[in-house]
Amino acid sequence: GWIWKQLFVPEEDPTSRVIGQLRSDSDRGERSIKYILSGEGAGDVFVIDEYTGEIRTLKKLDREEKASYVLQAQAINRRTNEPEEPQSEFIIKVQDINDNIPQFQNEPYVSSIPEMSPTTTVARVTATDADDPVFGNNAKLIYSILQGEPYFSVEPKTIIVTSWPNMDREARDQYLVVVQVKDMLGLSDGHSSSTTVTVSLTDVNDNGPTFQHLYAFAIPEDAAVGTTVGRIMAEDGDIGINAQMTYSLEDDLEESSTFIIKTDTVTQEGVILLAKALDFETKRRFVMAAEAVNDQPDTRFLLLEEFRDRTTLKIVVEDVDEPPVFLSPTYEWKVPENVAVGTAVGSVSAIDSDTVNKPVKVDPINGTITVTKALDRETSNWHNLTVEAKETQNHLSSSVVVFIKVLDINDNVPRLARDYQPYICEGTQLIQLLSAVDPDEPAEGHHFYFSMVPEKHINPNFTLRDNQNTAGILARRSTFTRKDRTQYLLPVVVADSGSPALSSTSTLTISVCSCQPDGHCPAGGVKALALSMGVSLQTLMGLVVCLVTFS
Ligand SMILES: *[C@@H]1O[C@H](CO)[C@@H](O)[C@H](O)[C@H]1NC(C)=O
Ligand SMILES: *[C@@H]1O[C@H](CO)[C@@H](O)[C@H](O)[C@H]1NC(C)=O
Ligand SMILES: *[C@@H]1O[C@H](CO)[C@@H](O)[C@H](O)[C@H]1NC(C)=O
Repeated sequence: GWIWKQLFVPEEDPTSRVIGQLRSDSDRGERSIKYILSGEGAGDVFVIDEYTGEIRTLKKLDREEKASYVLQAQAINRRTNEPEEPQSEFIIKVQDINDNIPQFQNEPYVSSIPEMSPTTTVARVTATDADDPVFGNNAKLIYSILQGEPYFSVEPKTIIVTSWPNMDREARDQYLVVVQVKDMLGLSDGHSSSTTVTVSLTDVNDNGPTFQHLYAFAIPEDAAVGTTVGRIMAEDGDIGINAQMTYSLEDDLEESSTFIIKTDTVTQEGVILLAKALDFETKRRFVMAAEAVNDQPDTRFLLLEEFRDRTTLKIVVEDVDEPPVFLSPTYEWKVPENVAVGTAVGSVSAIDSDTVNKPVKVDPINGTITVTKALDRETSNWHNLTVEAKETQNHLSSSVVVFIKVLDINDNVPRLARDYQPYICEGTQLIQLLSAVDPDEPAEGHHFYFSMVPEKHINPNFTLRDNQNTAGILARRSTFTRKDRTQYLLPVVVADSGSPALSSTSTLTISVCSCQPDGHCPAGGVKALALSMGVSLQTLMGLVVCLVTFS
């Protein structure tokens, strides 16, 4: 029979060496048996001494490449050339040495857990070792934490957990946990490698808003409604949705209607806006409370009231120089047209509404408006002016319209309405109807009074009938003939009803005409007559003399 021991060859051994011997128990050392090797690696990895049966290696082996070789052995009798033993199969095993380093799988390791968690699994790390997992400790792996204690630990084999519950993201939000793996059960002659587990803490709402200070703002009294007064902000250690908050102003005060607060969702600030017009002269200071409340409170971490905070706002109204204000929106004065130049018509006045009362001057100095030229109602019956008041220091100004109405004075004499050229037809009585005009405009209307110039003797030829506002010239006798006289002069007085009354005297030239049957006096007849007297027509008209008398 065959005699052999278990055959082993250590891997990675560079030297050629005898690893064992195959023998037939009939071999007496006479070199009569020939040993032959065949199978895996025969000839190039393993050779056999054909006389002694010693097997030796030819090259170094790698267990991780091939862990065992199956070979066949023959023992042949050299004399008979017959097999001395039946062909037999045997196995050469490659013995493991610790020539592989453990390797982490599935790197990199990234993990995130919510802050404030109880002890929890962060990651599972796995390393592999190519060495023989069965023989020896070459592939027996041990994990440990190189960096990350005391917050993290590795549980029995490969599980990394937080050993520090309630970790606070606001204190630190990322940890690099370095894990080492060692083979040989961690003995000092083993191999090792390490990996990093990046652990991030995610936010939970474990902080409420907190105001860091009180706020004071100033706003000019003329600020438009909608103006931003200022911004306030409560701190919140959390991020994202856990830091979102809504601001409000204490609404049980009258102040709350003057200002409103809006939340800037980008910056998480409270923006205070003016909601009502301000007036420094009425109210100079507003004090109110502002509140910030988290939108997503989480009562697992804090009490509900800890998700809100308050602060105090002071808003000071600043005085703004406002333009002067006239005491009346418009002025209307009446002045008689005959007032003397220099007379004061009236005064406008303006005041400065600001609290610091600056001297206000209306130009001219005290706002008194005087007459500088003689007024004539008949030329211009209204004088409408715009008066501007300007503050002397900052030139803020405003203006007012002043209407000055010129009142009528009886300063015009009444006159006959036109140049009458009366004539009397031979043999008739009514000669002429007269009317008068006057540029004045008495409030009660015109009343003209006509009369003849009083003389010692009553005029025997004509009389005048006053019809109230008109008058008729009547003949006192029935017959006038051109034979007796061709012309008569008749002075007529017309007076108005003014106080004082004014009057004028016009002298009418009454011609005697030989009229046509319809009573019409041919102009030629009169003119020819006038020429025959050697007097021009202009001279005749010039005879109408005006006398202005004040009676
Ligand atoms: C306005 O000033 C003028 C001259 O400066 C003066 O004569 C006049 O009396 C003043 N009028 C008033 C109303 O003060
Ligand atoms: C002045 O104002 C009066 C009253 O408003 C108006 O009747 C008049 O026409 C105005 N005169 C002029 C010249 O503007
Ligand atoms: C009146 O008429 C007569 C006759 O024509 C004339 O002589 C006389 O002067 C006239 N008197 C007056 C006052 O015109």
